[in-house]
Amino acid sequence: MSTERTLTIVKPDAVAAHHTGAILAHLEQAGFRIVGLRRLRLSREQAEAFYAVHRERGFYQDLVRFMTEGPVVPVVLERENAVAELRRVMGATDPAKAEPGTLRKMYATSIERNAIHGSDAAETARQEIAFFFAQADLL
Ligand code: RTP
Ligand code: MG
Repeated sequence: MSTERTLTIVKPDAVAAHHTGAILAHLEQAGFRIVGLRRLRLSREQAEAFYAVHRERGFYQDLVRFMTEGPVVPVVLERENAVAELRRVMGATDPAKAEPGTLRKMYATSIERNAIHGSDAAETARQEIAFFFAQADLL
């Protein structure tokens, strides 16, 4: 398996709770290299576009409200098998179902306010990285 990149976002709940540093430290310890990092507040239009795949779901408007309530920290991560490995260390969407030791088990407070995003496939990762970062800023 060759080196791969994926996108994570420290979500507004975890940023507000001062968990950004702990989450990034955990990811570095798990073998990810940080190759791009920003801190910003999403507009409603940006959050709608980022999660457009879910626009027909009942939770979509709540999700957009949550993702715009405060600053987020999008981060590009690199390691072997990065997409799958990030999903593994994040844990299940619902923290009640997440494995012990996963980031969502440690920092999520509900199925919605779940601390961290991770791209779900290699092609999604490419699109999500380009959503936040210029290629020249990924080092
Ligand atoms: P993410 O995209 O943020 O990494 O999360 P995920 O793949 O584990 O879950 P996904 O199905 O893509 O859902 C995106 C985000 O929407 C919120 N959600 N709320 N109230 C609900 O039932 C519900 N279900 C999902 C969560 O913030 C979830 O991470
Ligand atoms: Mg998802």
